[in-house]
Amino acid sequence: MRTKMTEMFGLDTPIFAFSHCRDVVVEVTRAGGMGVLGTTRLSPQELEAELRWIDGHTDGRPYALDLALPQKLEKVRPMVERDKALPREHVEFVEKILREAGIPPLPPDEHQRFLDSSPGYTLTARGGMELIEVALKHPQVRLVVSALGVAPKEMIDLLHEKGLKVGALVGRVEHAVSQVNAGIDILVAQGMEAGAHTGNITSMVLWPQIVDAAAPVPVLAAGGVGRGRQMAAALALGAEGVWCGSIWLGTRESELSPEMRERFFAAKSEDAIQRRVFTGKQCRMLRSKFTDAWDAPGAPVPLPMPQQIMLVEEARARIERAHKKEYMGYYVGQLVGDMKEETSTKSVVYDMLTEFADAVERLQRQIGTD
Ligand SMILES: Cc1cc2nc3c(=O)[nH]c(=O)nc-3n(C[C@H](O)[C@H](O)[C@H](O)COP(=O)(O)O)c2cc1C
Repeated sequence: MRTKMTEMFGLDTPIFAFSHCRDVVVEVTRAGGMGVLGTTRLSPQELEAELRWIDGHTDGRPYALDLALPQKLEKVRPMVERDKALPREHVEFVEKILREAGIPPLPPDEHQRFLDSSPGYTLTARGGMELIEVALKHPQVRLVVSALGVAPKEMIDLLHEKGLKVGALVGRVEHAVSQVNAGIDILVAQGMEAGAHTGNITSMVLWPQIVDAAAPVPVLAAGGVGRGRQMAAALALGAEGVWCGSIWLGTRESELSPEMRERFFAAKSEDAIQRRVFTGKQCRMLRSKFTDAWDAPGAPVPLPMPQQIMLVEEARARIERAHKKEYMGYYVGQLVGDMKEETSTKSVVYDMLTEFADAVERLQRQIGTD
């Protein structure tokens, strides 16, 4: 295939795979697409270890990193100050959900590790810059994408100076225009059916809006792309490639626990709901007894980011540790309704390309050009 994206990075196919799991990043990169490692959960030291591993398994091919950089989050409190930062009502509400579900506290050593961690640290411009310094030591990293806002100018300039491309996720035309004005090279137009943080405009409407507003900046289509017919639709709407997140979760390489995996395979598209329960910002996630508790009458309104992350992080760890499957949750898009059994990253890529080719042939037949 040849699009602006394959040419920009020397790829065989314009499939970009967002994942927090390095194995997915490696598999898609080796298959000729571009793996994109999510960094929100990584310290600079952890990122260094991940990048070394990816370098060692990708035969010199290019890959990418994704940072979440909301502009207003310079001060993130350490976890140990959590109780001072959070309203009593919210702390007691979460504790009540866990108590009623019979979910015990973490053992003291695990609890201490939690207090020593600082969730959301890398969600700051300073934290992001430290991660970029690590990334710049790995020449295969050719693209850095920021998720939640316009990256600081010095960050964009530094990346350009070092020869990297800079991208940004957007869900509205206004955001696309700000990003283009800030000098980014690629936009990822993410429709509301996507997993994790989302806006309110569907992919079908959003993609061509962003393509038109951003031209000549190339656009990758995200939100609801998991198969070849969706990829064909994205390219038909003007995208230069696709950016997929949810579809990799159903693969054997993904980070999901066995219990979470079972819940995904049983879920319908309407079980992927938009809530603020995990981060304080609107995210699409799998419905669970935990999210239901926040929907019940009398439940408090979720706190803003990053307080809501601090509030629920330990609860989520307690739920996982107790194997309380029906309380477990994770980010996923409406594609979850199509995931019925475990597959592999490689077969997702090959199936997508095969179905894409079939869709193109079908169109050619329909317009009489084959
Ligand atoms: C489990 C999960 C975690 C995600 N985390 C991030 C993230 O940290 N940063 C980011 O830019 N996008 C994140 N996303 C969104 C993806 O980058 C991508 O835009 C989205 O998954 C595309 O829609 P899809 O889920 O329908 O494929 C995440 C998506 C999923 C499914």
